[in-house]
Amino acid sequence: MSIQLTDEQLMIQTMVRDFAREVITPTAAERDKTREFPIENLKQLGELGFMGMMVPPEYNGSGADTISYVLALSEVAYACASTAVVMSVHNSIVCESILHYGTEAQKKKYLKKLATCEIIGAFALTEPQAGSDPVRQRTKAVRDGDDYILNGTKRFITTGKNAGLIIVTAKTDETARHKGISAFIVNQGTAGLTVGNLEDKMGLRASDTVDLIFEDCRIPAEDMLGAEGEGFRIAMTGLDGGRIGIAAQSVGVARAAFDAAVQYTKEREQFGRLISKFQGLRWIIADMAMDIEAGRQLMLSAAAMKDRGENYTMQASIAKLFTSEMVNRITAKAVQMHGGYGFIKEYPVERFYRDARVFTIYEGTSEIQRIVISNHILKDKRSP
Ligand code: CAA
Repeated sequence: MSIQLTDEQLMIQTMVRDFAREVITPTAAERDKTREFPIENLKQLGELGFMGMMVPPEYNGSGADTISYVLALSEVAYACASTAVVMSVHNSIVCESILHYGTEAQKKKYLKKLATCEIIGAFALTEPQAGSDPVRQRTKAVRDGDDYILNGTKRFITTGKNAGLIIVTAKTDETARHKGISAFIVNQGTAGLTVGNLEDKMGLRASDTVDLIFEDCRIPAEDMLGAEGEGFRIAMTGLDGGRIGIAAQSVGVARAAFDAAVQYTKEREQFGRLISKFQGLRWIIADMAMDIEAGRQLMLSAAAMKDRGENYTMQASIAKLFTSEMVNRITAKAVQMHGGYGFIKEYPVERFYRDARVFTIYEGTSEIQRIVISNHILKDKRSP
């Protein structure tokens, strides 16, 4: 069943589309070169209510539904994928986790600042030896009086340098498997937390990706998120929402690449006529449109399930898996349709192609999504 968007959802989409194309798009290519973090754009998104989209108004948020959120995130991704990934982790994982698992005091202290983008949030689960298998993480949190002391290294942390707050998972009981993992809210600048060097990435170059190193980093016990041992569950539910966010980013970048490619075929002449007149390219355009629309519907249906309060874990993985692979097909075709011009930085499809590459990797690889989906269908325990 296709989703009928409400007037309010369409209004939000139009508002963020206008803002993103007017303000974010013009500087995206330059940011890709300089790697400058898009702090001004994010602050403006915060002022417009897009950095606490699903947070209720009592905590300074917009109280929007997930459908409105994915529509908005797609529009930001259309303009600049680096900006979109920061918005996605901040909204989907950080704000949502504190909203659902935080104490009232944590919501007042942290969520209110996140929702207005006074601070940006990051999420630190991955470690050098624990990517797809986060249960085997080694970061430890040892109770000491009213504090926990954290030691360990987190890797590939999106916004790890520019975030004001990081949700960090660590082992509080090494003898228990996932039930020995807890989550903590860690403020940037806490003694014992060091930010590593910026990774030099293929794409999403304006979003920072860093190691976070914890050495005897003392965190007040009141900053534990959820109960002791609940950290893995918090991470997994956060990633369910996060994966819908990656679907939205994928749809946004795919549409940007598609629009650029279609426009190019209407301007470029070869063999004495516009290349849009060649059936070979017309059929590619039709296939691209079909692929993007399928992905958009999967994104919307996962968001709708979340809004209805249903279990949407499998649908989020399906949406993430399909759209992240779809955007890699679309951006590759868009480059091909541009010929030699697709390979140079003067045309945006070169950046879209690089930005899209990580979508099948982060927030759970395509292979992990297939594990999640097949586990849900077969309802048994698989070995990875
Ligand atoms: N929601 C709630 N609980 C969940 C859950 C979910 N979606 N998935 C699993 N759980 C619970 C299970 O119910 C189980 O709990 P109980 O025993 O109490 O019932 C517990 O978690 C363990 O489940 P599994 O035994 O299935 O766990 P596993 O070790 O086999 O791993 C996995 C499952 C799906 C492979 C998981 O490890 C996974 O998702 N791996 C990928 C990690 C990932 O996505 N990393 C991304 C890093 S963050 C990032 O990329 C952000 C960014 O910067 C952009």
